[in-house]
Amino acid sequence: MNVGILGSGTVARTLAAGFIEQGSDVMLGTRNPSGLSEWAAEHPSAQVGSFEATANFGDIVVLAVKGSAVENVVSAFGCNALAGKTVIDASNPINETGPENGVLPYFTTHGESLMERLQLQCPDANFVKAFSCVGSGHMVNPSFEGGAPTMFICGNDDSAKAAVNDILESFGWEVEDMGGVEAARAIEPLAMLWCIPGFLNNSWNHAFKLLKA
Ligand SMILES: NC(=O)c1ccc[n+]([C@@H]2O[C@H](COP(=O)([O-])OP(=O)(O)OC[C@H]3O[C@@H](n4cnc5c(N)ncnc54)[C@H](OP(=O)(O)O)[C@@H]3O)[C@@H](O)[C@H]2O)c1
Repeated sequence: MNVGILGSGTVARTLAAGFIEQGSDVMLGTRNPSGLSEWAAEHPSAQVGSFEATANFGDIVVLAVKGSAVENVVSAFGCNALAGKTVIDASNPINETGPENGVLPYFTTHGESLMERLQLQCPDANFVKAFSCVGSGHMVNPSFEGGAPTMFICGNDDSAKAAVNDILESFGWEVEDMGGVEAARAIEPLAMLWCIPGFLNNSWNHAFKLLKA
């Protein structure tokens, strides 16, 4: 499986390492491919390219760019590169202004998530929200007392969600499907909640788990 990961930050690198470990062919996308020469040398089986080349490369595409840039990144290379593909959206709509008493500000509203905007922008892409509500250090092979943590996902396409479900399970997650793209209105703010102990108490080692009766 070819996995095109748009981004060069901590999330992109963490997920790239996870996909490489699983045997996938990975390309990282960035504005400045030469800036990733050290990473490329450390990961000889992976490739580095432009955002456009990476989107075209992926059978599955991962969005791991800054939330405020993701719509522009996608519009620059165009939706055709994502049409019919599973697009894992790990991005969060975080404003530039910084947290207020530990609470991150978002540029979206309670009635419209970033992933809904992306789905409207590219109607033929199969967006699935995933990995957005945990810190990068716990995205692959999370290890917590109490067993596997829960990753909340959503999206409109059932086969895309099934593919992401399999990826998450192989990375060590329990998966809860919250339904269609509108559920991103609820999932994206979980990252605000996840970050509060970090900003207030420098505590970043936790994840969500859904307990059921
Ligand atoms: N950090 C976490 O633990 C975490 C956890 C869950 C979700 N997330 C979400 O995952 C995404 C990636 O987070 P991150 O912490 O790895 O990195 P980040 O600093 O939020 O984003 C870095 C990436 O965004 C791109 N970027 C930044 N400004 C841009 C612009 N103006 N135009 C085009 N591209 C731009 C960078 O491109 P270049 O490669 O060209 O520099 C880089 O690839 C974010 O949406 C974040 O909210 C993060």
